[in-house]
Amino acid sequence: MTKLKLAVLISGRGSNLQALIDACKVPGYPAEIAVVVSNNPEAQGLARAAEAGIPAMICDHTYFKGDKDGFEDALATIVEQSGAGLVCLAGFMRILSPRFLNRFRDRVINIHPSLLPAYKGLDTHARALAAGEKTHGCSVHVVTAGMDEGAVIAQTPVPIKAGDTEETLAARVLTEEHTLYPSVVAEIARGAVVIRQGRIERDAPLRHHDAVGTESPKPSEHTMSHDTHHHDHPVVADAQSVERAHAMWTAFTKATVVAGGAIVVVLILLAALVA
Ligand code: GRF
Repeated sequence: MTKLKLAVLISGRGSNLQALIDACKVPGYPAEIAVVVSNNPEAQGLARAAEAGIPAMICDHTYFKGDKDGFEDALATIVEQSGAGLVCLAGFMRILSPRFLNRFRDRVINIHPSLLPAYKGLDTHARALAAGEKTHGCSVHVVTAGMDEGAVIAQTPVPIKAGDTEETLAARVLTEEHTLYPSVVAEIARGAVVIRQGRIERDAPLRHHDAVGTESPKPSEHTMSHDTHHHDHPVVADAQSVERAHAMWTAFTKATVVAGGAIVVVLILLAALVA
């Protein structure tokens, strides 16, 4: 069985990452984690990836001071080079722009702690409690440019109990997240759920380009790589190499400006000589 390769993007604790790691260890599970990327060098999830022997990379947005395009291009390169066919956001605290999402159309999903479309954004448990809800829960959805707005793939409701605090409710929802996320990933990997142009199709007849994780996929059709070179292992992009690449790019742009200036000076001198 060819497994669907996952890129898991994290920013912190990584308990959903752990749930995916554990699911991937179960024989017959149709997906495997190709790479874990964190924008936060301190993320606890990085240690979980290391413990599981999964390539873990840091793509620190603070190195790209105000250059969101540069950050997202670096992130996209890491994901593409891993050969992942599905990007799973798991507590990833950066909003991805169309620039990134268009490179991975219909291939980015997220887990969110509420029954979407209710309670998008942060502090979902506190807001659900304050509103006197009877039921809360979690959702896995397609990622679009609007925050927590893409089509919902699956949800698990969690009853709110009398006396629940933000912490007790969050803990019960999190437990459900850990079951929901791996099960949705498995459905996508088996082709039971297909994301097409942002919409969800269930039990759709498999077409060639849906055939992720099936017996005889065409390799190039279930990865997102636009790279013609095949990489068996992702290229390690730790904090230092991201910084180095950034410094090289800055040096290159400076050199281009200097060279351009020199050419203009030479042209002026030539014009003066001719005149
Ligand atoms: C989870 O509650 C998830 O739903 C939300 O961020 C939290 C991440 O937790 N998007 P963890 O890092 O997976 O433990």
